[in-house]
Parts: sequence; C-alpha cells; structure tokens
Amino acid sequence: MIKTTGVRICGTGRAVPELVASNDDYAKIVDTNDEWITQRTGIKTRRISNGEPNYYFGAKAAAEAVADAGLTAADIGLIICATCTPDYYTPSEACLIQRELGVTGCPAIDINCACSGFVYGVDMARRYLACGDIKYALVVATEELSKFTDYSDRSTCILFGDAAAAVVLEKRDDTLFSSFTAADGSGAPYLAARALHTINPFRDESFTYEMDMPEPHGHFLLQDGKEVYKFATNALPTAVANACEKACISPDELDAVIPHQANVRIIETAAKKLHVSMDKMVLNIAEYGNTSSASIPNAFYDGVRSGRIKRGDKVCFVGFGGGLTYGAVVLEY
Ligand code: UT7
Repeated sequence: MIKTTGVRICGTGRAVPELVASNDDYAKIVDTNDEWITQRTGIKTRRISNGEPNYYFGAKAAAEAVADAGLTAADIGLIICATCTPDYYTPSEACLIQRELGVTGCPAIDINCACSGFVYGVDMARRYLACGDIKYALVVATEELSKFTDYSDRSTCILFGDAAAAVVLEKRDDTLFSSFTAADGSGAPYLAARALHTINPFRDESFTYEMDMPEPHGHFLLQDGKEVYKFATNALPTAVANACEKACISPDELDAVIPHQANVRIIETAAKKLHVSMDKMVLNIAEYGNTSSASIPNAFYDGVRSGRIKRGDKVCFVGFGGGLTYGAVVLEY
C-alpha cells in the first residue's frame, strides 16, 4: 500500500426532497410494474422535487457537511459543485450554493461529468488541497434529474430521482489516496439531454450542421440503456482496478466500495469481475434510485451515519455515466 498526500473527509451532509415516488406510482403513469422495476434495477422508491430548485438541496447538504466538520462556511476555501442539472447556465450552481451559505470570496465552480461528477470533484479538490493554497474544500453533488426525465418513457423514467449530498475535505499527509479518471467521448450519443439550440438573427437558415447525436425529444434525456449497461459493467471494475493498482492494494482489501447507484445488476456484475463480495458494496439504490452525481455521496452518507463505514476504513468511490465518463478514488476514511 502506497501512502501519499491525500484527503481527510471531515464532514458529510445530505438533503433530499420529501416527495416519495414508489414503483406503484410509476405504474399509474406508464406501462410498468413493481416486479419488473425491482428485478431489472433494484429500485423501489425515489425522491422527486416539489418545485424547489436544485441549488436548494445542494446548499442544505453543503451546510450540513460544513457543520458536521465543525466549521463555518467562511472556513471553506473552494466550492466544487458536480451537477448535470443546473438551475442556470450562469450563475453556476456552486455560486448559488455559496450565496445560500452566506459567504463570499472563495472560488466556486461547477463540473459536469454526469454520474462521475463526485469522483472527478474529489480528485480535483485533492489537487487544490495538495498545493496548499486552501485548507478546506467543499464538494457538493446535487441533481434534479426530474427536470429532464421523460415521464412518458418507461425505460428511463423509472430510474431517476433527485438528491444532493456533500463532503468537506482537508489535506492529509501520509495516507492512502489514489485516483483514476477517464472519458470515452465516442459514447456521447448513448446518454444525452439537449441544451439550447443555436438561434440568432444573423444565421443563414439554409445552413445546417449535422451533430451526429440522437434526435432530442425536447430537452428530455435520451438513453441507449443496453449500450450504457455494456459500458457500465466494464467501466466500473476497470476504474476500481486501476485506482487500486495505483495505490498498490488489491480490490478485496477494500473495506467498502461506494458505486454509482444506477442498477443493482451492474453492481453485481462488477463485484463478480473484481472478486469483491457484494457485502462490501454500499447500496441505497432501492430507496433513492439513480441520482447521477449525487448517488455516491448519498450512499456514503448512509454508510457513515449507520456506522457501516468507520474511520480508518479503506473506501473506494466509483462512478460511470454520461460523456461517457468514469472514474474511481481510493482513500482512507
Ligand atoms: O446513470 C447513468 C447510467 N445509466 C445506466 O447505468 C443504465 C444502464 N442500463 C440499464 O440499467 C438497463 O438497460 C435498463 C434498466 C435501462 C433496462 O433494462 P434491460 O434489462 O436492459 O431491459 P431492456 O431495455 O432489454 O427491455 C426489456 C423489455 C422490453 O420489452 P420487449 O421489447 O422485450 O417486449 C422493454 O420494452 O422490458 C421492457 N421495458 C419495461 N417493461 C416494464 C422497458 N422498461 C420497462 C418498464 N417496465 N419500466
């Protein structure tokens, strides 16, 4: 095991909408049923926003993480917000969260790596911390997938929910830390939600640009479930194996793996490939569904609060999703 300059997770927070949507609720709006959803995905319920903006939940989770770390928001030197469902093109979600926290000054940036956003965010924060420029970094992952979910498409709508979760990080020397982040842009068409079109008064309307992307249905998310499934069952074990190799540990030495909560079957396949017992997989997908970048810190929050993850445990966060992006971080909690 290689010891290096890594991070200490000094606080965790979470905020989710109160509204709960069960599989039976979905059976009332599309042709589906509890048995299909449970067997194919492992999902039972999700939380859905009642109209509160995305930053509202992000800020609540952030405030809890800061308080849990025994800090005030003024102590935070950097805010990274992972989201693919921001409330505005500008300002960033990170700036809105900073405003809700009642502070000014520290840099605040959004990153969009879809479901890998939290892993990328922790990796980036660690690099800022290692430079010594800042003492504490806040990584918030907040998503309102309900904004671009097509509730007439049974193959996607049953998957997604809304949630936010956050961690406060500080630099820690002589500890276990490694990261592996990657992307495969050739898979961009497999998971796509369209932003605004290029419309302006100077355009030559006869000119068209072929984007080589799926034809969007409004702003709704399109997913090629089978392609993403294939990608995910390779990306998840590849990312864990690479991050473990960099840290000179074997995946079975990990005490807990916190995977992106997309589908229980993906996680089971990956666990088999890695020769890691399912007992080590920290899951709350049944309760929250797929909440993109928020799903890893949300499951981690439950793991920590329930006592399942303890100080000193070797943990691995592993994400995969739109982009296509994937990545893993190994650290000592
Ligand atoms: O976070 C981003 C990453 N996203 C993912 O990781 C998602 C990866 N993909 C998946 O998890 C799975 O592909 C899905 C859960 C999306 C779909 O599961 P599947 O086992 O691949 O189902 P399928 O698409 O092969 O569909 C099988 C059947 C089809 O019917 P026919 O053609 O066999 O008659 C579908 O129309 O199941 C049907 N189906 C449903 N039936 C009841 C699809 N969705 C539903 C539904 N309820 N909600």
